[in-house]
Amino acid sequence: MTQYFQGDLFHTPVYGQLDYIPQALIAVDDQGKIEQVYRQDDPAYAEAVKQAQESTDFVRLEAGQYFLPGLVDLHIHAPQWPQAGIALDEPLNVWLDECTFPLEAKYADLDFARAVYTDLIQQLLARGTTTGLYFASAHLESSYELAKICAQAGQRGLVGKVVMDDPEANPDFYRDASTDQALKDTETFIQKVRDLSKDYKQGVYPVVTPRFVPSCTDEALAGLGALAKKYNAHVQSHCSEGQWEHDFVMERFHGKRDTEVLRDFGLLGPKSVMAHCNFLNETDGKIFQETGTGIGHCPYSNAYFANAVLPVKRLKAQGVNIGLGTDISGGFSPSLYENIRQAVVSSRILEDGVDTQVGPEDRGVSDSRISLVEAFYLATKGGGESLDLPLGSIESGQACDLQLVDTKVTNNILPDFGVFNDPREIFERIIYLVTPENIRKVWVQGDLVVEKG
Ligand code: GUN
Ligand code: FE
Repeated sequence: MTQYFQGDLFHTPVYGQLDYIPQALIAVDDQGKIEQVYRQDDPAYAEAVKQAQESTDFVRLEAGQYFLPGLVDLHIHAPQWPQAGIALDEPLNVWLDECTFPLEAKYADLDFARAVYTDLIQQLLARGTTTGLYFASAHLESSYELAKICAQAGQRGLVGKVVMDDPEANPDFYRDASTDQALKDTETFIQKVRDLSKDYKQGVYPVVTPRFVPSCTDEALAGLGALAKKYNAHVQSHCSEGQWEHDFVMERFHGKRDTEVLRDFGLLGPKSVMAHCNFLNETDGKIFQETGTGIGHCPYSNAYFANAVLPVKRLKAQGVNIGLGTDISGGFSPSLYENIRQAVVSSRILEDGVDTQVGPEDRGVSDSRISLVEAFYLATKGGGESLDLPLGSIESGQACDLQLVDTKVTNNILPDFGVFNDPREIFERIIYLVTPENIRKVWVQGDLVVEKG
């Protein structure tokens, strides 16, 4: 049976272009795929509205409410949720060794995993995140539990069992038992999640997940590349995040860059998403573009740990797919809205520079800023493109992932004083001021998964 939604909507079908459709009528098929989006001036509009009114499956918005596409978070460390906001004054290596690894080791306990993962998925859905690309932990069982919890909550989860097999690089209390075991567990995980996926129309996907090059042996990296190819699976890792990682990889591989190493192990491709990527140069950008690899841009996390700002504008101009990630908990916020705002802020800081003791012409990297509309694209359709999935805009053929944003909700009424009320201004106000209170309902693949009372 066709399902219908009617209301004012905002989305960005093209990078940099905001599309506002007043009183759009969205028709959705029984697989949760958008069949058609009718505009008021469409000759078929009146007939489609009539059919919607006769349907029992019809959602109609009130004044001050808007449909936005669901958000796509390209980088979440699910087991780090209890660490959100903790120890961000430390450098990455201290943060990882003293907080993160002891925490992630706890996910040998399935009950602990279940409690954290159930809460995290609800927190993300409540903030409009309908698709998540997750690092779980190094444990097979609790990684599978995360995939199951996403699927059951109705979120579209892409989940990886983390591989960190090198005994030289990882603590004894938290790593794969051996390279062979890491590869066996990854293959079992892929098969089990593929099987699980049959029961969930929004999809749940296994992801080949070397933590990052420094934590894996060459044998593991090669084996994971082979598994990605054998199963045509998604791949994720961290790439050229900070100065230390970037330099470490070049030294280990005798001058080869992180991008080249990942490519040569078979880990780059249209279904690969690499987090951070701050240190990519022109050649690296070309490799990303040619292989179809996407970038998970994590602006908060980069400000804390990466000694860098991702040059989004340069890489987009090279034709690289880019989406946004919270990087829970390298970034403290589970909200992709907050990361949209920070993506804009970081790009301005990159462009203008910050050291007032340096002359204004030498202070920044000119032509680096991105607009709010561009940052919103990263959080929606840019995420879909990076994952090679039809997500992130409200167009025929896309998954019906929607959020209902209410600008009149009592706890957070957005300013409405009869000024700055053209559609673009309303959109800007929503993206900058929205809180979880405003997100009243969320649908994934046509199914209602959040309804706030
Ligand atoms: N590099 C390797 N592991 C991690 C992690 O958990 N977080 C971040 N930000 N960088 C990493
Ligand atoms: Fe990360």
